[in-house]
Amino acid sequence: MTSLHIDPPDYVKNQKLIEWVRETAELCQPDSVSWCDGSQEEYDELCRQMVESGTFIRLSEGKRPNSFLCRSDPSDVARVEDRTFICSLRKQDAGPTNNWVHPREMKETLNSLYKGCMKGRTMYVIPFSMGPLGSHISHIGVEITDSPYVVVNMRIMTRMGRKVMELLGEGKDFVHCLHSVGAPIEPGQQDVPWPCNDQKYIVHFPEERTIMSFGSGYGGNALLGKKCFALRIASAMARDEGWLAEHMLILCVESPEGEKTYVAAAFPSACGKTNFAMLVPPDSFEGWKVTTIGDDIAWIKPGEDGRLYAINPEYGFFGVAPGTSEKTNPNAMATLTENCIFTNVALTPDGDVWWEGMSDTPPDHLIDWQGKPWSPDSGRPAAHPNARFTSPASQCPSINPDWENPAGVPIDAFIFGGRRSDLVPLVYQSPNWYFGVYLAATMGSEKTAAAAGKIGEVRRDPFAMLPFCGYHMGDYFNHWLHVGRLLSEPPRIFGVNWFRKDENGKFLWPGFGENMRVLKWIVDRVHGKAGAVESPLGWMPKHESMEWRGLEVLAVDKFSKLMAVDREVWKKELLSHEELFEKLYDKLPKEFSHIRELLLSTFWLSPEHWELAPERYTGENH
Ligand code: GTP
Ligand code: SPV
Ligand code: MN
Repeated sequence: MTSLHIDPPDYVKNQKLIEWVRETAELCQPDSVSWCDGSQEEYDELCRQMVESGTFIRLSEGKRPNSFLCRSDPSDVARVEDRTFICSLRKQDAGPTNNWVHPREMKETLNSLYKGCMKGRTMYVIPFSMGPLGSHISHIGVEITDSPYVVVNMRIMTRMGRKVMELLGEGKDFVHCLHSVGAPIEPGQQDVPWPCNDQKYIVHFPEERTIMSFGSGYGGNALLGKKCFALRIASAMARDEGWLAEHMLILCVESPEGEKTYVAAAFPSACGKTNFAMLVPPDSFEGWKVTTIGDDIAWIKPGEDGRLYAINPEYGFFGVAPGTSEKTNPNAMATLTENCIFTNVALTPDGDVWWEGMSDTPPDHLIDWQGKPWSPDSGRPAAHPNARFTSPASQCPSINPDWENPAGVPIDAFIFGGRRSDLVPLVYQSPNWYFGVYLAATMGSEKTAAAAGKIGEVRRDPFAMLPFCGYHMGDYFNHWLHVGRLLSEPPRIFGVNWFRKDENGKFLWPGFGENMRVLKWIVDRVHGKAGAVESPLGWMPKHESMEWRGLEVLAVDKFSKLMAVDREVWKKELLSHEELFEKLYDKLPKEFSHIRELLLSTFWLSPEHWELAPERYTGENH
């Protein structure tokens, strides 16, 4: 038994919380307990302590005011999907796409790991709200952690502190999130700048709405409000309660006439959500405006009017740094001018940050993400490919005035996009909700550095949720079909691919701001304004129904290449869907086998139907 006093401040009234903190302190045996109030003073003091201990480097006050660089341990740089578990009571509720261990067995394992794991450290108690305080779509969690890095990141990424504690009142329920870096400090032992443990566990108990994370301090492994709560636990809550928790950005397109269209889009990790959410239209789109509601997660609820309403449960951005520049994402760059935390980027001699893609010519000398001297001929990247920035969403110049509206924004269209160097066309529209759900469910994408493992390999990533769905993927598909049936006018569903390459391995599509051309076609389709041509996959834009002004003419033959749907390659793709379906056999929606048959039947249509001669994309509207 510990003699440690947990001393809750007098505004902490929730008995369940006080009891849980006491139990956890007894188990983890920290030196002290700190109840986070979310104040600026608390944040500044923790940053100061981390500078002193060597975890943080304060960046130049002139170049990046109130901002810090942090270097993780080189072994702790991304999410660990093979160490992520959904411990539902029954294995079949986690489904074949999740790792599963019986909760009783997992708790035994974890309890022995947590025993004494916070020795020599402070245990922080962080009350936080996912979503605006008081919104009927929002939910509250409390994270207990021994990492001050987690505390300061959580303050940017969530609404955190005393106000949330007050909302918890005496008896309100909350999601229990326990986190430890798993690195106790023995008496006389020196701490390291990034403590972590080779043994890692990211564990979810969906029935209990509880999360236990051990051994990692990085991103989604440690900021438990994000993937663990807002996606894995929330998806299970959403299934039970009739809403959706999705790996989606939310944006608003405003036409020159002032017509607003809200779009939610799912792309797998490091496949362009942040960029798309902050899109700056090309100059030729005079009067068009794109504004940002969220860049990673959407909680979406059917409203009484039969439409879907979405909120961004987060309060900040935890975005991929490499590739972000004034050219590719000026809004992100403007968001990063102050009050930010940078993890695993490079340091410039004048106390600023740099990463691959920030400028065309790299600086001559840098300190790389591992703290080593670097020059352009070092032959290795200066920033880790999954280096990230943490920045307050309120600092984003394109932030939408309704981004904190507790009622959410009404969604008109869903977009699904993977990273595919071949096969998948630039854009296509699903004929209806059912085909759209099929499209999203069978989406494939090349793996990125956002998760540990083999990069570049194509895998099925249904709804960009493969690593984030907290229950059986087959049940998840059925839930989506079910939600659509309740709506008076379900949002239109589109597929996109910014990443198609030519025979020399170069991107065929300029991407970034130019994605506005695709977005405008999508918005026009939603309002019944744009022409389209029928293809085996659904509706596709004709060359002339897209806006090309300002882009050095995208020749019709290049457009055809971008849009090409190759009969033989698609036959293979469709057959490969079977692999996923076979895995989910017992819960696969019956609609899916019919849709697949319908798609297969198109291979028996005349070859012209598949032929992608340029003239198919020009001429009279259909
Ligand atoms: P998570 O935060 O991991 O969920 O990722 P995200 O989907 O928000 O990814 P992000 O927007 O940060 O994009 C990651 C990478 O994709 C960066 O290296 C970008 O440069 C690149 N990218 C984004 N949009 C485009 C695009 O339109 N075309 C091309 N070629 N690359 C893009
Ligand atoms: C992702 O990997 O999809 C992210 C980053 O958004 S993390 O929060 O680390 O999961
Ligand atoms: Mn993400």
